[in-house]
Amino acid sequence: MSFTKYEPLKQETSKDSSESEEKRPWSDEWSATRAWKIVYALSVLIALSTVSNALLFLQLRTTQGQLDAQSYVGLQRNVPTPIPHDDRTIDDEMWDSPEYDFYTGWVALSDNFVQEKGLPGAMRFPWDSSKGIYVLHAYHSLHCVFVLRQSIMEHRDNLNQTWPFSHVTHCLHVLREDATCTADDTPRYTGRLHDESKHAEPSSGTGQIRTCRDWNKLRQFALDNSACYRRPVDRYVPLLDRYKNCPDGSKPWEELE
Ligand SMILES: *[C@@H]1O[C@H](CO)[C@@H](O)[C@H](O)[C@H]1NC(C)=O
Repeated sequence: MSFTKYEPLKQETSKDSSESEEKRPWSDEWSATRAWKIVYALSVLIALSTVSNALLFLQLRTTQGQLDAQSYVGLQRNVPTPIPHDDRTIDDEMWDSPEYDFYTGWVALSDNFVQEKGLPGAMRFPWDSSKGIYVLHAYHSLHCVFVLRQSIMEHRDNLNQTWPFSHVTHCLHVLREDATCTADDTPRYTGRLHDESKHAEPSSGTGQIRTCRDWNKLRQFALDNSACYRRPVDRYVPLLDRYKNCPDGSKPWEELE
């Protein structure tokens, strides 16, 4: 470098002009200017670094937001739930709980909601032509669990099958596709450990925490947007009458008369 060929500027107007320039190089105005330039440059770099960190953080948050936006009704995977070792029988009264009433999942969604969410059009709700009828996927899967359950029970009890064999097969495919589409990556522990330490033939994962979506929240959405649909399997009910089972007891068809 060839800095030394420059002459230090005179310091006549400075109060420090009497001091030796040789001993205090940073009092040299040229050096000071250069030092300030470096400080400015570093400040700009720090500012740029801070801004890009902030942008990166915002981008990560947006990506997270987009993941949550995959829920049509604002659900998040945020309910820590221990994995049960559920060996209740197929006849257990648990199956009759309103929580598992799959007809709850038949909903009437407004065209505004449908357009906003980019959903395909659907069959009209008979009591409001600005709404389409949809089945919430989880309830459709739950319906399939009940179809399989009924088929197994009828087989066990030597009864005729209620559902055609093709419907039972369809339900197997629905649940298989649920597993691959959800691709739940929770690693379930194995071995005679933790909650399974007392079992001779342990199953995997019992008691381990799995993070679920809020079923009650989905159920509430379904109840709030009910299509009032119910179709008994044991008797014929005319199509329109199947839409007269509103969970809140309301009778929207009467308003049309
Ligand atoms: C099963 O279906 C057959 C043929 O429709 C009928 O004859 C029989 O009575 C049914 N069995 C029972 C247990 O309902």
